[in-house]
Amino acid sequence: MIKFPQGFLWGAAASAYQVEGGNSNSDWWEWEKKTGRQNSGQACRHYELYEQDFDLAKNLNQNAHRLSVEWSRIEPQEGKFPESELKHYLDVILALRRRNIEPVVTLHHFTNPAWFGNAGGWTNRRAVRDFLRYCDLVVRCLAKYVRYWITINEPNVYLTHSYIMGVWPPQARSYLKAKIVEDNFAGAHIKAYRLIRKIYKELNLPRPYVSIAQNMQAFVPCAPSLKNRFAAYIRDKWYNFGFLDAIMRHKAMDFIGVNYYSRQLVEPRNWGFASLAMDVCSQDHHPVKKNSLGWDIYPEGLYELLLKLKKYGLPIIITENGICTRDDNLRWEYIYAHLKNIHLAMGKGAKVEGYLYWSLMDNFEWDKGFNPRFGLIDVDYNTYKRTVRESAVRFAQVSKTGVLE
Ligand code: BGC
Repeated sequence: MIKFPQGFLWGAAASAYQVEGGNSNSDWWEWEKKTGRQNSGQACRHYELYEQDFDLAKNLNQNAHRLSVEWSRIEPQEGKFPESELKHYLDVILALRRRNIEPVVTLHHFTNPAWFGNAGGWTNRRAVRDFLRYCDLVVRCLAKYVRYWITINEPNVYLTHSYIMGVWPPQARSYLKAKIVEDNFAGAHIKAYRLIRKIYKELNLPRPYVSIAQNMQAFVPCAPSLKNRFAAYIRDKWYNFGFLDAIMRHKAMDFIGVNYYSRQLVEPRNWGFASLAMDVCSQDHHPVKKNSLGWDIYPEGLYELLLKLKKYGLPIIITENGICTRDDNLRWEYIYAHLKNIHLAMGKGAKVEGYLYWSLMDNFEWDKGFNPRFGLIDVDYNTYKRTVRESAVRFAQVSKTGVLE
């Protein structure tokens, strides 16, 4: 029998921009308009419908929920902080608390206020200062009701998509800029970490648990050649562990937030830097099942990463793990296999304390629009009606009993 410990956090994750709707002061919104792509528009209308959505989560036996605060709502214009928006997020957190659902709150999940983006975004020297001012306000307002904070979601995904591959705003392709953003993210996290601890002390609150959500991938050499193995090794070292190592050197992490989805089959064409860093096998040499975006399903990769994470000696929360598919049986297969691997890793000493599926409901999948379906709950984008999927019901059974049958 596969049994998870008492007190394990069971739930789902989402981010503000992907579910709320109407985030018209954000840099993503501007970018959507400028590039003429599918607009996030009303998204799931979660900004208004959050009570109803949390009822669904509660009925699915979830005892934790990860959400993010949208900076562009808190500070729609530089230095202007409308009270009503802070109040909104306080209401959201209280709505979770009333249902005994533990909030895990992210402060930055890919989007920035448009004014911040237009001033150079995370390459600007003032970026860290601006971010901290926003964090200070939000944390003071919510501290009493929040124990878990994620400062920044997936710094590695943001900087590769926005500053190296150039497929997300501001569509830069510059290693130099990427390096500046990476350093600014590290500085922002370390300072936000200290700020959050300081605020809790000032307010005489029990200590908070602060981390980032780190995207991790299984980098598997396609054929075991020296070049492939070397490339897989450096990707693992930089992409998976670089940021974690950097913030750990400053002792700025209380638990590790892990976002895990897939495997990358590593096969660089040559020994050049870009090839070593990015090239993947273009053929399906080691076929496995895939999600609707073509990402490999590879649960054993999560097991291996969890064992490597033991070196930090910290508790781990799976802050995202999920699949986009229209085949709900496959969704359950995915969840089951990942939970099984998590449990195996726990048996080998990985201190996993929670699992948050991505995502509670279908939502706006960034540059891919509304087509990918990651949700435990189906969203009809014409009527905004929610329908609980069968996989959600199965997951709810595990959340209720802690047993994976
Ligand atoms: C992000 C989410 C995204 C999910 C699926 C993660 O990298 O944090 O915002 O929707 O992956 O692509």
